[in-house]
Amino acid sequence: MKVIILVLAVLYTAQAEKHYHSIPVKYGVSGSGVTTRYWDCCQPSCGWSENLNNPSGTPVTACTADGSTAAPSNAESSCIGGTAYMCSSQQPRMVNSSFALGYVAASFSGGADTSMCCACIRLDFQGDLSGKSMIVQVTNTGGDLGSNHFDIAIPGGGVGIFTEGCSSQWGCPSTGWGDQYGGVSSEAECSQLPSALQSGCAFRFQFLGGVSNPPVNFEQVECPGDLTGATGCTY
Ligand SMILES: *[C@@H]1O[C@H](CO)[C@@H](O)[C@H](O)[C@H]1NC(C)=O
Repeated sequence: MKVIILVLAVLYTAQAEKHYHSIPVKYGVSGSGVTTRYWDCCQPSCGWSENLNNPSGTPVTACTADGSTAAPSNAESSCIGGTAYMCSSQQPRMVNSSFALGYVAASFSGGADTSMCCACIRLDFQGDLSGKSMIVQVTNTGGDLGSNHFDIAIPGGGVGIFTEGCSSQWGCPSTGWGDQYGGVSSEAECSQLPSALQSGCAFRFQFLGGVSNPPVNFEQVECPGDLTGATGCTY
């Protein structure tokens, strides 16, 4: 009996993990780059249709203050006085010990760069995290980003320059949870975050092993449906 239960448990686990294929985009971007992390709760920049390559495409879904109800498409970002926030579903998720999914603010040219809004990129971590990869969708930009810079959206990773979003959405301290730049410093401190964001906060200490700003090699790939499903946006 025990053996049968064990076999069933193994089969169930094997089935539960979905397999993600990494399909390079022809003539897509690739190279080596740097990473940082942030979670500012603001509506991401690819949530404005004028920032998309295809202006009639669907911008990245933003949410109301509950983090899960889609905000009306004309809502302004909470970081410029409006009511649209980053959806909690746009936090990172570990698939297995060497592969994860998530979202980034990115720049390829340095500075605010909307040219790659909603494209997907495979980040192959280097150094201490060598052997681990993550497919991310570009949902945001940043005037403070350098070239080939991926600012990974990780709750509790620091609010950065925009301090109004998380404090108005979740009532956290005005400079965010932990340090304004860098965020909380341990997995235990993730308990300061709302429960909906705690798994994404823990991701930094589990999948990324607490390694800060790991370097990457990157390559543009086709977007997995699970990423575009949460944003509604395609490249
Ligand atoms: C982790 O998931 C990726 C993507 O589905 C897969 O290619 C890889 O083989 C998996 N690795 C392990 C150790 O299961």
